[in-house]
Amino acid sequence: MVTLCYFFQFSPAESLPEIKLECEVKKLASVEDLLSFLKLLDLSLGTLKLRLERGDFCYLAFIEGKAVHRSWVTFSSCWVKDARAVFKPAKNEAYIYDSYTLPRYRSKGAFTSTLLKIIADFRGSNTSLWIAVRENNFPSRKAVEKVGFEKVFGLMFKKILVFKRYEFVKIRENFSEKGMKDRIILA
Ligand SMILES: CC(C)(COP(=O)(O)OP(=O)(O)OC[C@H]1O[C@@H](n2cnc3c(N)ncnc32)[C@H](O)[C@@H]1OP(=O)(O)O)[C@@H](O)C(=O)NCCC(=O)NCCS
Repeated sequence: MVTLCYFFQFSPAESLPEIKLECEVKKLASVEDLLSFLKLLDLSLGTLKLRLERGDFCYLAFIEGKAVHRSWVTFSSCWVKDARAVFKPAKNEAYIYDSYTLPRYRSKGAFTSTLLKIIADFRGSNTSLWIAVRENNFPSRKAVEKVGFEKVFGLMFKKILVFKRYEFVKIRENFSEKGMKDRIILA
C-alpha cells in the first residue's frame, strides 16, 4: 500500500482570493451552539467537548438553511489519517481538519465558501493556515487550490506486510527539510 498526502499552506501575506461566497458559513465554538448539529459533526459529545476545550473552532456551511458542511480549525497537534502521521502546527499556525460535505450537497461550493470564511477570519492575525489533502482527493485539491493554498510538501507512506516507511517529498523550494520534520510526527 502506498499513499501520498500533500500539505498546503495559506500564508497571511497572500492577498484574499476574489471569489464570491456561495453559501452562508458560521463559526461556532460552544457546545450549546453545536449540539443541534451532532449528526453532521458525526462526533460523540465527549470528543466535541475535548475539541472545544483545547481551543478548536468549528465552521459550518449552510445551503437553504440546512447545515451541509463541517470543517474544524485547531492550533494543536492533530492526527492526519490520510498521511498516517500527526501534523503539529508551529507558532502562528493553524490547521484545518475534518472537512466534510454531505454527499447530496457536494460541488455546490460549501467547502470553498468555508475555506474563504476561515481565510477571512484569520486575516490580520498573522496566522498561516495549513490543510492536508490526499493526492487523489480531486474535489478537495480543487477547492484548496482555488482559494489560494499552495502545496508545500508531501508525505508518502508505504506499507509492505508489516514494514512501514515514510518519505518526505519536497515541493516548495525554499521550505526546509527541518520545516517538514518539525511539523510532522510519524506514527
Ligand atoms: C472534499 C469535500 C469536502 C468537498 O466538498 P464540496 O462542498 O463538494 O466542495 P466545493 O463544492 O466547494 O468544491 C469542490 C470542487 O471540486 C470539483 N470536483 C468535484 N468532483 C471532482 C472530481 N472528481 N475531480 C475534480 N474536481 C471535482 C467541484 O466541481 C468543485 O469545483 P468548482 O467549484 O470549481 O466547481 C467533499 O467532497 C467531501 O466531504 N469529501 C469526503 C471527505 C473529504 O475528502 N474531506 C476533505 C479532506 S481534505
